[in-house]
Amino acid sequence: MASINTANRSTRFFPSHTHHTATSWTRSHHIATLSLVLTTFFLTRLYDHSLRYCSSLYGNSFADVNRQYDGVVRFGDSGGWPERGYGTHLNLKIYVYDENEIEGLKLLLYGREGKISPEACIKGQWGTQVKIHRLLLQSRFRTRKKDEADLFFVPSYVKCVRMMGGLNDKEINQTYVKVLGQMPYFRLSGGRSHIFVFPSGAGAHLFKSWATYLNRSIILTPEGDRTDKRDISAFNTWKDIIIPGNVDDGMTANGARLVDPLPLSKRKYLANFFGRAQGKVGRLQLIELAKQFPDKLESPELKFSGPDKLGRMEYFKHLSNAKFCLAPRGESSWTLRFYESFFVECIPVLLSDQVELPFQNVVDYTHISIKWPSTRIGPELLDYLESIPDKDIENMIVQGRKVRCLWVYAPESEPCSAFNGILWELQKKVRQFHQSMETFWLHNGSIVNRDLVEFRKWKPPMPLP
Ligand SMILES: *[C@@H]1O[C@H](CO)[C@@H](O)[C@H](O)[C@H]1NC(C)=O
Ligand SMILES: *[C@@H]1O[C@H](CO)[C@@H](O)[C@H](O)[C@H]1NC(C)=O
Ligand SMILES: *[C@@H]1O[C@H](CO)[C@@H](O)[C@H](O)[C@H]1NC(C)=O
Repeated sequence: MASINTANRSTRFFPSHTHHTATSWTRSHHIATLSLVLTTFFLTRLYDHSLRYCSSLYGNSFADVNRQYDGVVRFGDSGGWPERGYGTHLNLKIYVYDENEIEGLKLLLYGREGKISPEACIKGQWGTQVKIHRLLLQSRFRTRKKDEADLFFVPSYVKCVRMMGGLNDKEINQTYVKVLGQMPYFRLSGGRSHIFVFPSGAGAHLFKSWATYLNRSIILTPEGDRTDKRDISAFNTWKDIIIPGNVDDGMTANGARLVDPLPLSKRKYLANFFGRAQGKVGRLQLIELAKQFPDKLESPELKFSGPDKLGRMEYFKHLSNAKFCLAPRGESSWTLRFYESFFVECIPVLLSDQVELPFQNVVDYTHISIKWPSTRIGPELLDYLESIPDKDIENMIVQGRKVRCLWVYAPESEPCSAFNGILWELQKKVRQFHQSMETFWLHNGSIVNRDLVEFRKWKPPMPLP
């Protein structure tokens, strides 16, 4: 099987210029650097020259042209795209709102009584809402100056807060609207520069009136399905980013794991499916299939509460005991099982036709997983899986091992992590200027609203986009 695309882009997720290479800085590197500097110098001269040429054509003085063009756009030395927005390395500045700065943010973080614990919210499949916030607080791309920020992060643990009864839907809606009304920079870009995490299948629908207020903002969510049962999809490929779900820390840790993968020959089952049926056709079909072929497909009734509740360790032990982990659609298209399967090294089989996966411009999912039509769940699927030689399964496992670091919310210092992947995706969303229906700019760079009031003089509550 051919190598996956991530290998070709290794400079992105596995930068060669990390600390350990610094020590092997040699003479040839110096020469290379020197020649780079010289090339840049000559190219710059050439650029100046052409500007001078232009200015003589248009009769402007060189100084004027230089002022006008300086900082507008600067292309890379090798003809690449500019660093801001694209580039060869991460270069972005993100402002993280402080919970004390905006009235209402604390409600979205800890509920109306302030009692919802972030330590509880960081666990489970929706833990991304806390993890991404914490990683940004520690990030070298964080800025404390709103003036220089490319992007703004609005922290909220609202999925968890709602689950634990800390706020109801009506309160969530009203609190978001109140919070946004206090943010002049949200208004400045019509919301485009602001980032929100919605960690569950409901996506931005957690905020009932999202379509009115957040329809231009950057939404981080594992749910990229645009056909959800609500009449309007909260996901848009142009502006939103699909993130991996939060896999249990016990499985993603670098050292001792909760459960280690089994050799293929030791796995008892061909395939398994763990999860509640939730009345979903595909899941019900799998449970039926397991009754027909109990030696091939393991799909026990799972207890999620009470004395027979399956513990984390047992769950992963079961999951690791098959060659293929089936990941059917549930309440929504995305499923945590897909990500979990990489850590027990079973091949994920997506049975969720509308599913969308993270980092699609970097990861070629055909090399690490299988997607099978959900309309063909039956003995045919088991026959097909059985026909796949172990050699091919081993190959996919090897590829998956290389990619799974992208599902781990590891510290930013890890070159390959979900967070670094998200930062790269965010970098592509950076806008060099403020664009919205309600922002305007004058000859001297002053940004004004429709009433020509300068940005600095805008007063809260801001009219919302
Ligand atoms: C959300 O809150 C805003 C502001 O209070 C209100 O105008 C809107 O109708 C609410 N949306 C829903 C769905 O209740
Ligand atoms: C966003 O919402 C506003 C207000 O409801 C609406 O006018 C606009 O068309 C929406 N934009 C998009 C991109 O959906
Ligand atoms: C830019 O021009 C406008 C209109 O002439 C003026 O009101 C504003 O003060 C100027 N802004 C700056 C930063 O000079």
